Amino acid sequence: MGESPMSLIDAARAVRENAYAPYSRFKVGAALRGASGQVYTGCNVENAAYPEGTCAEAGAIAAMVAAGETELTEVCVIADSPEPVPPCGGCRQKLAEFGRAEVEVTLATIVGAELRTTIGALLPGSFGKSHMDRA
Ligand code: THU
Repeated sequence: MGESPMSLIDAARAVRENAYAPYSRFKVGAALRGASGQVYTGCNVENAAYPEGTCAEAGAIAAMVAAGETELTEVCVIADSPEPVPPCGGCRQKLAEFGRAEVEVTLATIVGAELRTTIGALLPGSFGKSHMDRA
């Protein structure tokens, strides 16, 4: 048999090391599993023009889509914060585009705190493609 599936938290922890965050000094790692079982990772990438920075979640989603997948089944985000850091509003919308409301999102800190939530709980009442059905 093959190797056991990679832990999302380990993948997120590892990619966080590569975050480019010279302005906030707040490194974030994200890992998600596509429906195929493949793990995709991303880190935050800041910019001297601050609004051009991108979040870790956005990077992981971009990696998944670039690999040809458009459905995610599990998400993990990790940072060195006192409490598990919740995804920003924009990332909640991005996650909702590719994951069902029931999809588990684990928010973690590098010292081991974990908060489990779901995409639906993070963004209740979200706007989605079905709202454009009459267009
Ligand atoms: N950040 C993420 O990458 N993901 C989150 O869920 C929260 C915030 C990044 C954006 C920015 O580079 C830094 O953390 C501070 O906001």
